[in-house]
Amino acid sequence: MTPAPDALDCIMEIRGISRAFGGLMALDDVSFKIKPGTVHGIIGPNGAGKTTLFNVITGMIPPSRGEVLMEGRPIPSVRPEILTSLGIARTFQNIRLFKEQTVLDNVMIGQHIHTPTPILSILLGGRRAAQGEAAARDEAMRALRFVDLGDKASKTVSSLPYGQQRLVELARALAAKPKVILLDEPAAGMNPTEKAHLIKLLSILKEDGYTIALIDHDMKVVMGNCDVITVLDHGKKIAEGTSESVHSHPDVVAAYLGKGRAEVADA
Ligand SMILES: Nc1ncnc2c1ncn2[C@@H]1O[C@H](COP(=O)(O)OP(=O)(O)OP(=O)(O)O)[C@@H](O)[C@H]1O
Ligand SMILES: [Mg+2]
Repeated sequence: MTPAPDALDCIMEIRGISRAFGGLMALDDVSFKIKPGTVHGIIGPNGAGKTTLFNVITGMIPPSRGEVLMEGRPIPSVRPEILTSLGIARTFQNIRLFKEQTVLDNVMIGQHIHTPTPILSILLGGRRAAQGEAAARDEAMRALRFVDLGDKASKTVSSLPYGQQRLVELARALAAKPKVILLDEPAAGMNPTEKAHLIKLLSILKEDGYTIALIDHDMKVVMGNCDVITVLDHGKKIAEGTSESVHSHPDVVAAYLGKGRAEVADA
C-alpha cells in the first residue's frame, strides 16, 4: 500500500478512535497526528482516556471504531514483536518489569525482535546467536548508560528505588531503537531531582530526533518539552496546540478545575 501523501509530515496518525467499556466512552472519536521528531503531549484529568489511547495504539485493546496508522499504514497486529518491528515502543503507567531479574536482562527483553528467537538461534548456529546476544547486550548497556544506570546493570530491579525503576522502563523502550516512543506518566512517583533528570533526558532524546508521545500529569514535564499538546477529557479531544495555547484554553482550564485539578491553571 502507498502511504498517504501527508504521511511525510506525520509518522503516526490516530484516526477517529472510539472505545467503549460497557456504557462508558473511554475514547470518543479521537483524531490527531504526530509529526516526526516532535514531543507530542497527551494530557487530561484522571479517567480522560489517555492510557486507553496507548493501549489502542499498541493493540492491547481493540478500538470500537477508527484506526491507527504508522507511517501511513494501519498497524496490523497485536503481537509485541510486530510493534517493535514497526518502530513503536512504550512504557507503562504501572511499571511492568521482571522485578527479580537483573536490570540488564529487563532492558534486553525490549529488543527481542532484533535478536534471534531460540529456533532461529539453532538454525543460524551458536556463533550467530552469540553475536546477536552480544549486540543486544551492547545496545541495552548503551540505553542504560544513557539513563545513568550503567553501573546498576547487574542489580535486581527490586533493589532499585522506584524512580530508577521508571528509568529502567525508559531504557528498555529505547533499547528497541523505536521510531516512536510512547511514555505513560514516566515521571509518576519520581522525586523532584529524579524529575529534573527525566526532563533533561527527554530534551536530549528530542534533540536526537526521537518522536515521543508523552502522557504526564506533571506540567513541568509536559509544558517544557512538548511541541504540541492534545488534551482529552471524558474520552474526547477538547483542545490541541502549543503549551501556551492549551494552558489558557477555557475548556482545558474548566476540565481540570472541574476535576479539582488546577495544575494547568497553576503551571
Ligand atoms: N479495561 C477496562 N475496562 C473497563 N473500563 C476501563 C478499562 N480501561 C479503562 N477503563 C475506564 O476508561 C476510562 C479511561 O481510563 P484511562 O485509564 O484511559 O484514563 P487515563 O486518562 O489514563 O487516567 P489516569 O490519568 O488516571 O491514568 C476510565 O473511566 C477507566 O475506568
Ligand atoms: Mg492513565
